[in-house]
Amino acid sequence: MSTVLILGASSDIAMAIAKEFAANQYNVQLAARNVQRLTAAQSDIAIRYSNSCTLHEFDAVNYASHHAFFQSLPVKPDVTICVFGVMHNEDDSFTNWHLAQQMIDTNYTGAVSILNIIAAHYQQQQKGCIAGISSVAGERGRASKLIYGSSKAGFTAYLDGLRNYLFKSGVHVVTVKPGFVYTKMTEDLKLPGLLTATPALVAKTVFAAVQKKKNTVYVKWMWRWLMLIIKNIPEFQFKKMKI
Ligand SMILES: NC(=O)c1ccc[n+]([C@@H]2O[C@H](COP(=O)([O-])OP(=O)(O)OC[C@H]3O[C@@H](n4cnc5c(N)ncnc54)[C@H](OP(=O)(O)O)[C@@H]3O)[C@@H](O)[C@H]2O)c1
Repeated sequence: MSTVLILGASSDIAMAIAKEFAANQYNVQLAARNVQRLTAAQSDIAIRYSNSCTLHEFDAVNYASHHAFFQSLPVKPDVTICVFGVMHNEDDSFTNWHLAQQMIDTNYTGAVSILNIIAAHYQQQQKGCIAGISSVAGERGRASKLIYGSSKAGFTAYLDGLRNYLFKSGVHVVTVKPGFVYTKMTEDLKLPGLLTATPALVAKTVFAAVQKKKNTVYVKWMWRWLMLIIKNIPEFQFKKMKI
């Protein structure tokens, strides 16, 4: 039986991914900074799918702990999914460095710190798969996603580079770019139904992408085309727009 490690396991998207992999005969390792909140989910997965489901303390911004965290896992995962992320209000983050820094430290630096360690292990094993939940927000710098978007742009570039770096070692890396998803992160936003995915759809997309060794996946197909249009708007026009 294969094992999947989910980093940032308390999120709605992470929980849906855990259930999707468990339903497909994976043992599950849930890693989060507050594992007490995951005990109900742990029993649910263990009972419903008869798989092993273990809990592990993990803080994305405690970089110094990442090596020991990975070493402490009793079984090294075959697949790692990096889900954690932070999104603050952009106007507040523009004037409050603490908020901006938390997004950069978590979404980019934290992800690179832990994934470098796991990637080195996979490289040595000559196998393994990493999937990172980035965002369409990283595709073009925009006023409405100034810091969050730039942190996700960095994460997307890292995942794409890591795929290239590890290709000859037989290790695969998937870049996942959801558009809007109904979760805690977006509960205060008015989201357009047609463009918004459920965590369950994200989970199915991630699982299929890992199985089929896809490079980059969007969760709802229209985002690929929408972002293509956004990326091709000439800068002289784009800078006057409020998107
Ligand atoms: N929702 C969307 O529309 C959307 C769209 C595109 C991409 N995404 C991405 O999808 C991922 C999941 O987000 P979500 O929508 O499910 O939001 P969410 O429910 O707010 O989940 C964010 C998760 O990140 C965890 N986290 C934050 N800082 C952490 C840290 N220092 N160490 C460990 N875990 C940490 C949170 O843990 P705690 O429970 O401990 O706070 C929480 O589990 C994120 O990377 C997000 O950027 C979301």
